[in-house]
Amino acid sequence: MKRYLTLIAAAVAALGLATGCGPRNASVSSPDGSLSLEVSVRDGRVGYTLHREGKALLDFSTLGFELKDAPALRDGLEICGTQTDSFDQTWEQVWGEEHFVRNHYNELTVSLRERQAPNRRFDVVFRLFDDGMGFRCEFPEQPDLGEFVIMDELTEFRFPEDHMAWWMPTREPYYESIARHTPLSQMDTVNTPLTIECAGGEFLALHEANLTDYAKMSLYPVDGGTTLRSYLTPWSNGVKVYACTPFRTPWRTIIVGDTPGDLVTSRLMLNLNEPSKIEDTSWIRPMKYIGIWWSMHLFQETWAQGPNHGATTENMMRYIDFAAENGIEGVLAEGWNVGWDGEWTKNSDKIRFAEPYPDFDIDRIADYAAKKGVQLIGHHETGANTKNYEAQMEEAFEFYRKHGIRAVKTGYVNVLMDGKELHDSQYGVRHYRKVIETAARYGIVIDNHEPVMPTGLERTWPNLMTQEGVRGQEYNAWSPDGGNPPEHTTVVPFLRGLAGPMDYTFGTFDFSNPVSPFARVQSTIARELAHYVVIYSPLQMASDLPEHYAGQPAFAFIRDVATDWERTVVPQAVIGDYCVFARQKRDSQEWLLGAITDETPRTLTVALDFLDPKMHYRAQIYADGEKADWKENPYDVAISERRVAAGDSLQIRMASGGGCAIRFVPEPEK
Ligand code: NOJ
Ligand code: CA
Repeated sequence: MKRYLTLIAAAVAALGLATGCGPRNASVSSPDGSLSLEVSVRDGRVGYTLHREGKALLDFSTLGFELKDAPALRDGLEICGTQTDSFDQTWEQVWGEEHFVRNHYNELTVSLRERQAPNRRFDVVFRLFDDGMGFRCEFPEQPDLGEFVIMDELTEFRFPEDHMAWWMPTREPYYESIARHTPLSQMDTVNTPLTIECAGGEFLALHEANLTDYAKMSLYPVDGGTTLRSYLTPWSNGVKVYACTPFRTPWRTIIVGDTPGDLVTSRLMLNLNEPSKIEDTSWIRPMKYIGIWWSMHLFQETWAQGPNHGATTENMMRYIDFAAENGIEGVLAEGWNVGWDGEWTKNSDKIRFAEPYPDFDIDRIADYAAKKGVQLIGHHETGANTKNYEAQMEEAFEFYRKHGIRAVKTGYVNVLMDGKELHDSQYGVRHYRKVIETAARYGIVIDNHEPVMPTGLERTWPNLMTQEGVRGQEYNAWSPDGGNPPEHTTVVPFLRGLAGPMDYTFGTFDFSNPVSPFARVQSTIARELAHYVVIYSPLQMASDLPEHYAGQPAFAFIRDVATDWERTVVPQAVIGDYCVFARQKRDSQEWLLGAITDETPRTLTVALDFLDPKMHYRAQIYADGEKADWKENPYDVAISERRVAAGDSLQIRMASGGGCAIRFVPEPEK
């Protein structure tokens, strides 16, 4: 039977060959007509061009694959069919920066085939949105392409000019980088998201969507530097991807906008992921949390047992009390389980995920938390030993589920998984997916540290709530370079942030660092508050110690700030200098605003035109005080109130390394 089918397939292929096949090119535009794409075959190679309002954003950029033990799938191609489609649907997010998302695109599928035997085939599917495009390759089942091994993906992005770009080098582990800003031609091999400031004024972001059973893509400059070519993270044996037809790549994505804010408010990446596979999502809820964490990074307490062990029963109860008194929903405990003693990163096979240390009475703690209405957040630090973790995973999630724990922070400290494979290889991608899917079965949400770069999977698996993969607050506790400079978080939302939620864990109120005085949270209290609006995560940590929040009037903002949003706008932003974000709380008329600046003090005039014009609001303003300055006086915060309306503008004065946070509460009309 199989042989018979093969013969038919060969006959059909031969027929196509005989007819000389289809058109030489095909095109499609975005629904509003602003973006247009043309696909063509030149000298046997397929490529695409992208224009915006008639101007070239990408010149003819070719596609193809190098395979193992087989000729490259790249040359001698012809177009043997095209198909178009369009789609317009609005869907509701389980949680997010925007409650309802419109998914509106025109689609073009171009079917390609080798002109000569073995006449292998693949399709390229392009989706054109008003704010960018995505494309991916699909390999149908066929006689001469069953199991195959990708040694290189040859996708190119060919820019007409040497634009400026914000980038993070791939060689720095865990995506914990301070961004670089150079022309494209001077980049290393870089991670995506990659943010490009076009000479003509447009902003572009290159990334990928729905990274499933594939390797993460980086980009590197070739041909004089204005062409970027993809580089897939390899397995340790050099293979990039093990594939079997039918098979498809992740989407390669390009967001296009007029401002940096347009990149942030694009939902293109989520639209290119599949709808939720979790039917009942009612248990998945955004929240704020505190936890036994910062004290360890400050080296005041320890993960391992000893005189200063952090995760003790008494300490947990103290944190639970503070959370309950302040309306903070969650409490995290790290260093609660067996495995942290000695050089734990080298002995990760000793980590036990369902065995608490004796001074951590999980039954008592879980009862106490439940009584106080506080959720516990579990922690699985794996040391990147996925084999040890996978062997215990079901038991570990069951252990937490039975203690009423519905959220788990996972961690992968060690550059190689199982001493061998990179986190963002196909090996790592498969592991992370297994964790998310297993956690979903136990009704558990995940906060994944040392992840593979997010690609919008939270649409399909909304229990994947937040991830690290960012140089976050922990660097301010111990980094030999002194911590993250104020500029850092004016870049983060427009680079790493475009990939999805970030567990950055700000909220510092006490800036002293007795054990590592060379490092410092380079911020002010007002700026720490503003981060809750600027840097998006549905799980948002207040990372300082409870005793540092006690009695602080500014803590009211952390108590009040939302973690789930109806709508997000970015009124002003210059990447690397300053930015202003405003977000409307989900199912509410309340708005929150966050503004931050780099080391340069500045005053911005911000129009409040995002507010509902029919209403008045009480603006609770947390601004840098007269004497505030990240270096000299981070503590000076000025709290005031004003009545405002949509027609008003506010003067926002920010100190060096400072910021401003505002809560707009609707006022009843008199
Ligand atoms: C690195 C994580 O990012 C951090 O949050 C955690 O405390 C340590 N690993 C220990 O797991
Ligand atoms: Ca700057």
